[in-house]
Amino acid sequence: MSATDYIQQNLHPDGMQGFVIRNETAQDERAREDLLDRAMGEGRRRKSSEKLRRGRLPSAGLAFVARGADGTLLGSVRLWDIQAGHDTTGKPVRALLLGPLAVEPLLKGQGIGAALMRHAINEAARLGHGAIILVGDPEYYERFGFSGSKMSELAMPGPVERRRFLALELKQGHLAGCHGLLSPRGRKSSRSMKILPVSLRFSM
Ligand SMILES: CC(C)(COP(=O)(O)OP(=O)(O)OC[C@H]1O[C@@H](n2cnc3c(N)ncnc32)[C@H](O)[C@@H]1OP(=O)(O)O)[C@@H](O)C(=O)NCCC(=O)NCCS
Repeated sequence: MSATDYIQQNLHPDGMQGFVIRNETAQDERAREDLLDRAMGEGRRRKSSEKLRRGRLPSAGLAFVARGADGTLLGSVRLWDIQAGHDTTGKPVRALLLGPLAVEPLLKGQGIGAALMRHAINEAARLGHGAIILVGDPEYYERFGFSGSKMSELAMPGPVERRRFLALELKQGHLAGCHGLLSPRGRKSSRSMKILPVSLRFSM
């Protein structure tokens, strides 16, 4: 069943009745990519955050989907291992980059995005990570504790609107004194190296 068919059959006047958050599986890839195209459009591949994700696997245990009762994929969020510059002693600082977060467009405002965010934050904390960074609208992400207060000395590897450059510390003080450029640190995806055009393989 397509996501649209599922939604038409299951969307009640009171909102979405029942979804669960689960770890993403390899079988979710196609539905996830279709959803991201629908929710974010083609421009999603040109975002600065993509430079930190391209050719990498998500952080272990930190890729989640929202599913309807029959398993249809309704939302997605993933977190990525990055280095958030250095601290004041010159030590590299590890962090997570969150994104993309996307929900089936017909189901916006039903609490799926918030459920994915809360689950992702809880799991990242449980796994011992120190901080989550993202680029997104503060009007949405502030409700989960994100702010720009720790980001003034950090930079993305590409253009970023300062007001949308946000972080949440999972361990207090984890980003104190952090400065420099965000860089990828995640496990490499051998498959993505095979499908990238040659010109992109050596560009970052
Ligand atoms: C952003 C997104 C993930 C939110 O998911 P969702 O399931 O619709 O969100 P929730 O149901 O948890 O929350 C809905 C609330 O968030 C608000 N909200 C959603 N997106 C917002 C935004 N960009 N800025 C401010 N508020 C936003 C809604 O107005 C609503 O407010 P209310 O609770 O006061 O009515 C979803 O709208 C989406 O997929 N958008 C397209 C992709 C995208 O922009 N992703 C984020 C990249 S920054």
